[in-house]
Amino acid sequence: MIVTTKDLFKVAYGKFAIGAYNINNLEQTMGLFQGCLDSQAPFIIQISKGARSYTNKKMLEAIIRTADEIFPDSVFAVHLDHGDLDTCMDCINSGFYSSVMIDASHEPFEKNIEITKKVVDAAHAVGISVEAELGKLGGVEEHVSVSESDAKLTNPEQAKEFVTKSGCDSLACAIGTSHGAFKFSGTQGLHFDVLEEIQKRLPKFPLVMHGSSSVPQDEVQRINAAGGSLKGAKGVDADQFRKAATLGVTKINIDTDGRLVWCRVHRESFRDDPANFDLRPPGKVFMKEYAKFIAHKNEKLGSAGQLPLVKKQLGI
Ligand code: G3H
Ligand code: 13P
Ligand code: ZN
Repeated sequence: MIVTTKDLFKVAYGKFAIGAYNINNLEQTMGLFQGCLDSQAPFIIQISKGARSYTNKKMLEAIIRTADEIFPDSVFAVHLDHGDLDTCMDCINSGFYSSVMIDASHEPFEKNIEITKKVVDAAHAVGISVEAELGKLGGVEEHVSVSESDAKLTNPEQAKEFVTKSGCDSLACAIGTSHGAFKFSGTQGLHFDVLEEIQKRLPKFPLVMHGSSSVPQDEVQRINAAGGSLKGAKGVDADQFRKAATLGVTKINIDTDGRLVWCRVHRESFRDDPANFDLRPPGKVFMKEYAKFIAHKNEKLGSAGQLPLVKKQLGI
């Protein structure tokens, strides 16, 4: 069942984080729903601008609606990931999305507020909530490339002012993560001190952690052993998710790790069965492996086993 992101946040805040998983196709969708059902977890489906144009935005909507029918016990929200103004408005008007993210974090502070507020006004008028972003993650965000040296952590004082002035419902904070498979060159570090300061100023306000893939080293090794070339790939320690959740992180974004599962399954499949040219054998393996990966991630997030509580609190 599709629910509002706001409702999921109310149940989760301070207790656990909800996994926000990007999808692009039906195999990912089937694995995601199966994995969340197996682990009894609520979840957020994220659709990026790139995912909307990979096939057709309507195709993704149809896949999600059908998955909802196939898995009637699932509870999830549908979210636009890293939207610009036009894409946010399109999603708000579509009536399909539970929430949108407006990412104007590359703009100066006041301009970020102005753009975010525009989206908030339109979204709130139809009961949709809005995630905004303040600070700059290292790595690549949609079309904007921010070099590591330029990466700026979220300023806690500014976070309070930003939320008050923009009226957004959740805030993506830069606390040391970045998108993609190459997050840390040395020792990794989430800036819990920054999170603590933000939470002090914005108590009970849902915070979002982007760039949270773990880039498991065994996955990287298997990919490289099957012909891949991912040298130096490194991610976030998933054992830090629970601590982040106690500090107000209510949504944790994961995309890259799912892509690594896809890459490993397909590389190994074609290496081990070079005569195969049928898409279904690796596709079947992928859906199973993806479900396993999602269930494991939900354990780390603390969302596994929370489905009964969510249903009780939401009266479903
Ligand atoms: O943060 C971005 C997400 O990983 C989505 O990536 O824009 O390539 O779909 P994408
Ligand atoms: P990863 O690249 O770490 O999976 O982050 C995904 C993300 O933040 C999507 O918005
Ligand atoms: Zn992101």
